[in-house]
Amino acid sequence: MSNKVFIGVAWPYANGSLHLGHIAGCYLPADIFARYNRLKGRDVLMVSGSDEHGTPITITADAEKITPQNVVDRYNKEHTENMEQLGISFDLFTRTTTKNHESVVQDLFSTLYKKKYIYKKNMNAYYCKNCSRFLPDRYIEGTCPHCHETGARGDQCDRCGKLLDSSELEDVRCKLCGCTPVLQTTEHLFFSLSSFESKLLEWIDDKKHWKSNVQKFTYNWLKGGLKDRAVTRDISWGIKVPVPGFEKKRIYVWFDAVTGYLSASKEWSQKKGEPLKWEEWWKNKDVRHYYFLAKDNIPFHSIIWPSMLMGYDESLNLPYDIPANEYLCLSGEQFSKSRCVAVWVPDILKQFDADAIRYYLSINMPENKDSNWLWNDFVAKNNDELVGTYGNFIHRVVTFTSKNFGSIPKMQNLEEMDEEALKKIEEACIEVGDSIEHCKFKKGLRAAMNLAQYGNYYFDQNQPWKLVKTDKERCGTVLHMCLKIVQALAVCTVPYLPFSSDTVWRMLGNKDSVKSWDDAQSKLNAGALLEKPTLVFKKLLLEDIVVDSDPFSKLDLRVAKIVEVKDHPQADKLYVLQLYLGPLGKRTIVAGIKPSYTKEELQDKSIIIVSNLKPAKLRGIESKGMLLAATDDLGVCSLLNPKDATPGSEIVVEGIPREPAAVLEFDDFKKAIMIVEDDQKAMYNGKPLKSKNDVVIADKKVKKGAKIS
Ligand code: MF3
Ligand code: ZN
Repeated sequence: MSNKVFIGVAWPYANGSLHLGHIAGCYLPADIFARYNRLKGRDVLMVSGSDEHGTPITITADAEKITPQNVVDRYNKEHTENMEQLGISFDLFTRTTTKNHESVVQDLFSTLYKKKYIYKKNMNAYYCKNCSRFLPDRYIEGTCPHCHETGARGDQCDRCGKLLDSSELEDVRCKLCGCTPVLQTTEHLFFSLSSFESKLLEWIDDKKHWKSNVQKFTYNWLKGGLKDRAVTRDISWGIKVPVPGFEKKRIYVWFDAVTGYLSASKEWSQKKGEPLKWEEWWKNKDVRHYYFLAKDNIPFHSIIWPSMLMGYDESLNLPYDIPANEYLCLSGEQFSKSRCVAVWVPDILKQFDADAIRYYLSINMPENKDSNWLWNDFVAKNNDELVGTYGNFIHRVVTFTSKNFGSIPKMQNLEEMDEEALKKIEEACIEVGDSIEHCKFKKGLRAAMNLAQYGNYYFDQNQPWKLVKTDKERCGTVLHMCLKIVQALAVCTVPYLPFSSDTVWRMLGNKDSVKSWDDAQSKLNAGALLEKPTLVFKKLLLEDIVVDSDPFSKLDLRVAKIVEVKDHPQADKLYVLQLYLGPLGKRTIVAGIKPSYTKEELQDKSIIIVSNLKPAKLRGIESKGMLLAATDDLGVCSLLNPKDATPGSEIVVEGIPREPAAVLEFDDFKKAIMIVEDDQKAMYNGKPLKSKNDVVIADKKVKKGAKIS
C-alpha cells in the first residue's frame, strides 16, 4: 500500500442548504477517514465541490425566479462555510463552474468520442407542446415503473433509488405546466456503457472488501446488462458539448459532476504550484481511491465513473472502496429537500457546537441501515455520553491534578491495575484505528468511549481524593495514568471531535495540535505545567432546542358554513360572506370567487377557512380569515369540500402536530404548499387533509397538481 490516499466525496447540488442527511451520509465519514489517515502520516488528497449544473439547478432557479448563476453562487458560498464550520477538512472544495473543470470534462468527453465510446443516436424524448421544449430529467414527473411511486423524477426514483430513463416512466407530466408531453425523436450523444461490461465484472471481482449493499447494488445492475446512456441534454445551463451539431445541448450533469474528482485534483495541484502533482495520486497503482457518498449515488461511482475512466485513460486509478452509507431519517422519514423533511445545517450550527453534532451523527451513523435523528436521543447522548462520560472524566482528572499538583506528576511503581490500564489504552488505540481503517466509524467511536468509561472506573477504584492525603506518591502515579488515558482519548477522538480534542490536548500542556496517531501513547512529560481546565462539552436541555416545525403546524384550518352571501359594494369579483363556525361563533370574510360560484351555489355550503390568518381589509371591508380553494392552470377554481364535517371542526394532516400561530402571517401561510392530487383529494406533503371522519376533496373537478390557496 502506498503512503498516499485519495478521498473523493460526493459533490452536493448547489440548489439548497445542506441538511444533516448529507453530513451523515458522506461528509462526516469522509472527514473522519481523512483526519485519521493524516495522523497516520499518510498523504491525503480529499476533494469535492459544488455540483452546479443541470436540471436540479435550473428547476430551483425557475421556482425562485432568479438565474441559475445566482442559485449556485448563493449555495456554493453557504456550503463552503458550513463545511468549514463543521470541520470537514477538504484539501479542496471547488465547484463545477470553473474553467479548469470545463476543460477537463470536455477533454474527457472528446476523447471518449474519438475512441467511439461516445456516439450519436436518435432517441425518443419527451417534448411539451405547451412549453415548446424538450423535457430533460427533472422536468418530467411520473410513476416509477419499478416501485410504482408517483412523483418519481425523470432521472431517478427517490423511493427505490433506481436510475430511470424518462421514457420508462408511466403517467408522465410536464413539471412546468402539468401537461402530458409527447415523445419526439431527437439526436443525442450516448456513452457506450455496454462496452465496459466485462471489464467492470473483472474489476469488481476482487472488491470483496466492499460493503454488502454496495456489492449487491452493483452486481444487480451488471446482471441486468448495461444499457448505453445519453450523456447530452436539451438544456442551456451546463458544459458545452465539444462535438459539432450539438451546440444547443449540454453535457449531462452526472458526466460533468463525477469528472470533478479528476478536475479538482488537477486544480489543487495547480494551486500548489506543482501542476503535475495530481498524478502521484492518480497514476500510481498502489494509491487507494476512496469515494464517500450516500446510497442513491452508488451506481454513478461503482459503474459509470469507472467506465468513463477505463475508456478515457487506462493509466488512471479506479475506485478502491466506495463505503456508501444508508440514509439518516427524521422521525422515520428520509431527509429530503423536495419534501421539506430535514434538519438544516445552517440552522443547527446556530444552536450547537460542531462536535456535539458530529458526535451524535457518528455514534448514530447510518452505516449499515437507515438511522434516525431524534432530538431527545441527541440530547440524551450528548448529556450522558459526551458530557457525562468523556467530558466528566477529563474534567475531574485535569481539575484534580491541577489543584493538587499543578503539573503532570511522576509515574512510579506500577500496580496490577496500572498495568491493566496501560493495556486498555493500547487496545483502545488499536481498535479505534482498525475500525476507522475499515470504515467502521461507529465502532471506532464506541471503542474510544469505552476507554473514557474505563477511565472513570480507574479513577473511582483508586480514589485519588483519599490518596492525596495518605500517599501522595501513589496519588501521583494514579493521576499520571489518568492523564495518559486523557491523552489517548484526545488523540483517538481527533477524527471525530476535532475541535474539542484539540482543547483537551492543549490542557495537557501541549502548545501544538495533535500531529500523529502515535501521540496517543507517547510518554507524558512529568513536571510539565497543566493548562487551566475548561469545560469542553455543554449539557443540553431539550426544552431549549428550537426546532423549525412543519409550516403546516402553524395553520388553523376550520370547517365553516356559509350563512349569507352578499356582493362587495366596491368590487366586482368579491363576495362578502357571513360564516358560522360552531363554537367559534360567526365571522365575516371577503372572498374572490365570484367568477367561479353563484350566490345560490354558495348559500349553506360547508367550506374550509384559514381561521388564524392575520385579518386584512379588502376594499374597505375586513376579512377575518381566508377560504381555501384550488386553482389549476386552466383557471378552474374549486372550493375545498369538507363533506359533512361539523362547523368549527379542525382539518388536520396525520403526523403533523397542530400548533396554530395566534396570528398567522400570510408569508407563513404560503410556506405550507397544498395541492390537489388524484381523485380530487386535497394534499399536503403527500398526505391528505382530513376532518374527523373524512378526507377533504375539491368540490369541482380541477387538474391534478392544482394549487390550493
Ligand atoms: N450532486 C449529486 C447529488 O447530490 C452528487 C454528485 S456526486 C459526483 O446527489 F460524483 F457526481 F460528484
Ligand atoms: Zn409543459
